[in-house]
Amino acid sequence: MPKQTIQDVDVRGLRVLVRVDFNVPMEDGRISDDNRIRAALPTINYLRERDARVILCSHLGRPNGKVDEGSRLEPIAEGLEAVLDAPVNYVTECVGIEVEAAVAAMEPGEVLLLENLRFHPGEEKNDPEFAQQLARLADLYVNDAFGTAHRAHASTAGVADYLPAVSGFLMEREITMLGSVLEDPKRPLAAVMGGAKVSDKIAVLETLLDSVDVLVIGGGMAATFIKAMGHGVGDSLLEEERVDFARETIERCGKQGVKLVLPPDLVVADAFSADAATQVVAAESIPDGWRIMDVGPSAVWDFTEALRPCGTVLWNGPMGVFEWEAFSHGTRAVGQAVASLENAVTIVGGGSTAEAVGELGLAEDMTHISTGGGASLEFFEGKVLPGVAALRDKEA
Ligand code: 3PG
Repeated sequence: MPKQTIQDVDVRGLRVLVRVDFNVPMEDGRISDDNRIRAALPTINYLRERDARVILCSHLGRPNGKVDEGSRLEPIAEGLEAVLDAPVNYVTECVGIEVEAAVAAMEPGEVLLLENLRFHPGEEKNDPEFAQQLARLADLYVNDAFGTAHRAHASTAGVADYLPAVSGFLMEREITMLGSVLEDPKRPLAAVMGGAKVSDKIAVLETLLDSVDVLVIGGGMAATFIKAMGHGVGDSLLEEERVDFARETIERCGKQGVKLVLPPDLVVADAFSADAATQVVAAESIPDGWRIMDVGPSAVWDFTEALRPCGTVLWNGPMGVFEWEAFSHGTRAVGQAVASLENAVTIVGGGSTAEAVGELGLAEDMTHISTGGGASLEFFEGKVLPGVAALRDKEA
């Protein structure tokens, strides 16, 4: 069911509580990747242009209901100010008298960032009292935090019981773009799955297998599939208890006419380290004592050829340990192959895949890069995301 957005309500002059996901990576107290902040700008600017008072709230990290000095949102306020090119006020609390006074003092078009929501135990417990304290600050609630939409917390779900609740532009775009993979995609539809573990992707594979035409498997999780084909995997990370699932997946692909592309060769290393000794080996001959670190050149060739005719490509999970140069080639080559599909809709799942695409400088060439890691996985598992369910239906 489509959800109402900020364009479906008259926001002019209102106090608007906007849940954003500013849970950005930090290094030594500084923001190391501000993509999630930039992604919220269309909503913030739209509201400011209409003289709304924009009250932003977010979590950062997992402080577990206690104040953690290292998780304050002050650096986020500074980072936002830099990209918004307008002042951002910041309060060291997210509810209570001090915050209510700060909101009362806001002028039309002003932006206020509240303190980390997860300093309060009521946030993650979805405590109605905490949700009401948040709701008291505003006339309208906007959820633009797709990355946190899989959490049923006070600021993502509970608050919608006390305020009219609509989505922001980022939330709307995420639902539309990710939804386009599940509903009537341009065919052929391919899923490129990678990452370390099969267990992280089981539920997604279960859902996608009913709709994909092409399934590409890379990354560490390929080991479990190689084992399911009856080959040894040396010292690779193997999920013994998932081998049956991998075997069933291979059989299902055969029965359903899904083109399954497993890596015919791999880059293996003699240790899990950036400067380990490496060699390229066939998938059926991984030597004892060696482990999978990346897909090999023939795998890149096969993957690229399989993707070439596709109309929609969903990519979730790197092809190897891309953070280390020696094992980054598979992820780079597959990223380039996806990015070069000019007539295809290309969707990148969040988390480490989004990070890889950013580092490889391929972001501009993708149709959509999700800001949600866990949220996008749960979306593709077909789960109802509490942060989306809480919003007003279009029809209402
Ligand atoms: C994320 O980074 O995936 C979101 O901000 C959610 O964070 P969480 O996993 O700590 O709930």
